[in-house]
Amino acid sequence: MSMTSAEIRSAFLQFFADRGHEIVPSSSLIPGNDATLLFTNAGMVPFKDVFLGTEQRGYTRATSSQRCVRAGGKHNDLENVGYTARHHTFFEMLGNFSFGDYFKREAIQYAWQFLTETLQLPKEKLWVTVFEEDDEAFDIWAKEIGVPVDRISRIGAKDNFWQMGDTGPCGPCSEIFYDHGEDVWGGPPGTPEEDGDRYIEIWNLVFMQYNRQKDGTLEPLPKPSVDTGMGLERIAAVMQHVHSNYETDTFVALIEQAAKVVGTNDLTAQSLRVIADHIRSCAFLITDGVTPSNEGRGYVLRRIIRRAVRHGHKLGATDAFFYKLVAELVRLMGNAFPELKAAETRIVKALQQEEEQFARTVQRGLALLDEAMQDLKEGDTLAGDVAFKLYDTYGFPYDLTADITRERGVGIDQTGFDAAMAEQRQRAQQASQFGVDYNAQVTAATVTEFKGYTHDIDESEIVEIYVNGESVHEVAAGEEATLVLQRTPFYAESGGQVGDTGFFSKAGVVAFAVSDTRYLGKGIGHIGKANQKLSLADRVEAVVDSERRNAIRRNHSATHLIHAALRNHLGEHVMQKGSLVDEQRLRFDFSHAQAVSVQELTEIEREVNCEILKNWELETAVMPIEKAKAAGAMALFGEKYDDDVRVVRMGTYSMELCGGTHVARTGDIGLFRITSEAGIASGVRRIEAVTGANALAFTQSQHEQLRGIAQLVKSDQTGVVDRIESILEKQKQLERENQELLRKLSANVGAELAANPEIVGGVKIIVAEMTSGDPKGLRDLVDDIKTRLQEAVVLLAMRDEGKVSLIAGVTKGLTSRLKAGELVNVAAAVVGGKGGGRPDMAQAGGTQPEQLDNALAAAKQWLTDILNS
Ligand code: ALA
Repeated sequence: MSMTSAEIRSAFLQFFADRGHEIVPSSSLIPGNDATLLFTNAGMVPFKDVFLGTEQRGYTRATSSQRCVRAGGKHNDLENVGYTARHHTFFEMLGNFSFGDYFKREAIQYAWQFLTETLQLPKEKLWVTVFEEDDEAFDIWAKEIGVPVDRISRIGAKDNFWQMGDTGPCGPCSEIFYDHGEDVWGGPPGTPEEDGDRYIEIWNLVFMQYNRQKDGTLEPLPKPSVDTGMGLERIAAVMQHVHSNYETDTFVALIEQAAKVVGTNDLTAQSLRVIADHIRSCAFLITDGVTPSNEGRGYVLRRIIRRAVRHGHKLGATDAFFYKLVAELVRLMGNAFPELKAAETRIVKALQQEEEQFARTVQRGLALLDEAMQDLKEGDTLAGDVAFKLYDTYGFPYDLTADITRERGVGIDQTGFDAAMAEQRQRAQQASQFGVDYNAQVTAATVTEFKGYTHDIDESEIVEIYVNGESVHEVAAGEEATLVLQRTPFYAESGGQVGDTGFFSKAGVVAFAVSDTRYLGKGIGHIGKANQKLSLADRVEAVVDSERRNAIRRNHSATHLIHAALRNHLGEHVMQKGSLVDEQRLRFDFSHAQAVSVQELTEIEREVNCEILKNWELETAVMPIEKAKAAGAMALFGEKYDDDVRVVRMGTYSMELCGGTHVARTGDIGLFRITSEAGIASGVRRIEAVTGANALAFTQSQHEQLRGIAQLVKSDQTGVVDRIESILEKQKQLERENQELLRKLSANVGAELAANPEIVGGVKIIVAEMTSGDPKGLRDLVDDIKTRLQEAVVLLAMRDEGKVSLIAGVTKGLTSRLKAGELVNVAAAVVGGKGGGRPDMAQAGGTQPEQLDNALAAAKQWLTDILNS
């Protein structure tokens, strides 16, 4: 029996649906709310919380064909792709799941039945493994299914204890292998030859029993469960009687297309496999909202694209080619994944842009490398920081640089490279810590207690004083300083929200004006200027500028609303990329490939205002991060959160992890208006918006403008668009009439000029400057005069905004005596220009209009000389 990939997928889902399993569509490659994972890397990922018991669903059995990416992070196969028969960055995992329903026995029975009955695989081709301590699974295979014991191997935890990541659901597993036959090298699982391609694992049955904790310990799950995974590509190879996944239907088609677009005939080239594999992960990652960038998921995507592009170049591609595979991929997989089809244009654009950009940076990088190598001779080494710069700024993978230097007998200082890399990593890690300003020179010893969620004013003690970065005991009147309090209502800049301003008073007098608030380690530093001497241990009253703070609160709460609204209207791929909240406005950056349309913006703005009107009470709660995520709170990917997090919720509409200060009820925001939407980087959009009094001011000023426009066009405000339309229509009509009049006018001018030619040497000549009309009409005028006079020489000029236009015409019969080009250039030379054209018609420009009279005189003289000779 032979089956296509699509047929296998349907047969699998149907088999389990017939056995009471809910068919669940594939989730995104970006795990929802799970910062522990880079990509969805197994079919069970969307069900993680169901296994843990923190999420309930309406079913206890499920089946899916889940798209997965294993590149970067745990389960990283990137470097193997192209070199083995079975590794991919992207693959589909067929799976069946039991959430506390059936366990080992049924899982094993179902798998066996599907393979040997539905797919009709010969039993003697199948081998199985069990976890070494799992006698129960061993017995089911041996005694109930009847697999001969010499085809069952007991394997240790490395291969037969599966877990999704460093933490999370896990358990012992049992794997089923398929024997591709003697003519492929390799041995059964557990033998030294197991890494060959003869015995291929096709299905992994995981008996989920534990939740791995951060410290490595295993906590039992609420109920024993089942998670299985069968790579569609591998089982397709089996069903299509080929040995390599790359010889299955989907890949053959992609490889043929890849060969076509890079221009090679060698269909066996390994690089074609790499390209065929990579287009799938790249296209689906973009579908799910990832854009190429220099960090996190975007960086993994960039690396995969660049790897594909390099392999294309290896095969001789010279232009951007990768995006040309998208149409074929959509043809192959668009039916099973409608979201891929929907994203086609976006994918093509993103890939093409990235590839072209890569080509440019490669050029620049090569120039840099050339320069750095100029002084190096054979046997020298290239500095590690140059290799790092090439890597970091120009996207040269280390091995690419090494390839190039090797050609010239030059090595690379790898230790230097590694050191620069480690430093970079540390910088990146620090930058991603939420809100703490690690660049601040000073780290306070104090851990300041923040009282600002509930208080705008609070009394406290000065515990640290810094002047010019030095720790001191007192600050003098008039001096600038940073004061750390034991506790404070002042919010220190973090999470995109600016620091508070205000003042400290002592004995009823303003003693210190606070112009900004920042974290100094875990202490809160109040930056400002002293009005009087202040010393350590002084007690002060810290007073936040609450009017400003209230404006900030409004903008911050509105940021949560727009975040939710954007996801509702544009899709789940919308991810926060940056945010700034101050008293004037809010700025929200998010991933989205194209401009947000006016209609979408209107809808989003309307929805946010509706949620404001619902006047939700803002509820905040501190809870363990796992619980917050289980409840569906939005978290920022890549942020490192504490174990306990603060969750801000607005009714049923929004729930986010956030440490900022917020309004008491959404109604406090008043009004929300979007003021702009624009792209700021490839795949990243920025929305700016205002709330409260600023939103009112924005609205009023727009209204003011409308009133002004209505007044100018003498209309009322409701009729203003109609009125302007009719004015524009009228203007168009006038322009048409004007053109017509100009044409007639120039005909008259032509007739007038033609009526009075000068006669030089028996030839009619007209040399004149036109003072009205359009320079573009000069040519027609010259033609007109030539027609009227039959035999003549014409030179017309016109000045226009500091420039001169010159046109010369010579009727055919005279071109043997003089050429239009010669004539026009005599004049042009005088006004600082040069021209050219045909013998009967030539044109020139000039930049010195003040010389035009001299130019025409010179032309006339030249004509006189020629025509009289
Ligand atoms: N989650 C298991 C795996 O990925 C089935 O192998």
